[in-house]
Amino acid sequence: MGSPKNVKRQFPRWKELAPLLTFRKPTLNRKRARLENALTIWDLRDIAKKRTPKGPFDYTDGSAESEQSLERARAAYRDIEFIPNILRDVSKLDISRKVLGETFTMPVGIAPTGFARMMQTEGEVAGARAAAKFGIPFSLSTLGTTTITDVVAAAPDGVNWFQLYMWKDRDASMVLVDRAKAAGVKNLILTVDVPVAGARLRDSRNGLTVPPRLTAGTLIDAIPRPAWWMNFLTTPPISFVSLSNWPGTVAELMDYVFDPTMTFDDLKWLRKQWNGTLTVKGIQNLEDGKKAAAAGADAIILSNHGGRQIDRAQAPLHLLSEIKREFKKDFEIHIDTGITHGADILAAIAYGAQFTYVGRAYLYGLMAGGQQGVERALEILKGQMIRNMKLIGVSSLDELSPKHVRLLKRS
Ligand code: GLV
Repeated sequence: MGSPKNVKRQFPRWKELAPLLTFRKPTLNRKRARLENALTIWDLRDIAKKRTPKGPFDYTDGSAESEQSLERARAAYRDIEFIPNILRDVSKLDISRKVLGETFTMPVGIAPTGFARMMQTEGEVAGARAAAKFGIPFSLSTLGTTTITDVVAAAPDGVNWFQLYMWKDRDASMVLVDRAKAAGVKNLILTVDVPVAGARLRDSRNGLTVPPRLTAGTLIDAIPRPAWWMNFLTTPPISFVSLSNWPGTVAELMDYVFDPTMTFDDLKWLRKQWNGTLTVKGIQNLEDGKKAAAAGADAIILSNHGGRQIDRAQAPLHLLSEIKREFKKDFEIHIDTGITHGADILAAIAYGAQFTYVGRAYLYGLMAGGQQGVERALEILKGQMIRNMKLIGVSSLDELSPKHVRLLKRS
């Protein structure tokens, strides 16, 4: 209460009170209301956690060992200090970006992530359709639960890319590449950081199998998440490419299927087989980036696989800030891992990334509400980008430069 000396009191009058009383119109669409209340990617994560069984949620949310790689990648973005300019006309904004010869409406694409139908029944189709609607690319993982043919059929107007893990059975992996080519895919993303799967301890502790098994534990976990289980039991089985199910963890599956003997010679070999653009994902130092470029990569992705492989890896944003100047200006350097905000994307662009990717941010949206949830995630990122560009005082991405950002070093 204010001091009686400073404040004059009166009885509230209805005429003055009435305009203050605004109740939100109740919406019949509960999903829409739920998603509209999410203002950040973290809000979507909260919803996702409530609606998704622990096994699939932890597979998505978790990373390897102590989970430091992911935490540090995110901390690098959190620690950015922006240096804005004032008094610029920012009434018109251009956030489009040309990437590998195609122009996208935003400088962010959907990263390849495994088993999307296990997170939410709409799976990869929801991601591809949302991406098409927003004019950005969708990347399908080798560990996807929808074939590239079905993804392209679901989002024929979108730009759909395919991510490849080289299998021990080389012919089997080339069948996937040929299928992607036949479906009209123009960009192949080769992931190079899985000589062995990282130790995803949450999956081991949860005993996660693909698809999740009905055990006493999962049944108890299912009680507050009826929609997920209803979908699980009433839609086609969740399967991974040619295996209908896998009795162990995803990491064990990766070790069983993927080729640990792969070298730069195999990259050169693949370059000869594929006549579209080739992007190499999982670069963690300058030397490997240069070697990948020399082997014919059209772009590299600085990435530590969302922290899911080596633990205590360098934050890709730090690496970007150190090595960008060592490459030709027009060689495309892309980046992923740890992006959860539109301003993170701007920071990466300012340090010279041509393009960025979100994996978890997309999956939190998917788990929170299928395609509508993915669209909400993209809308959140877009809104954050637009607002922050205006606050930085630039009206196009090309104007962003290292002078707009500083890395807060923690010693
Ligand atoms: C798949 O690529 C994974 O990281 O789990």
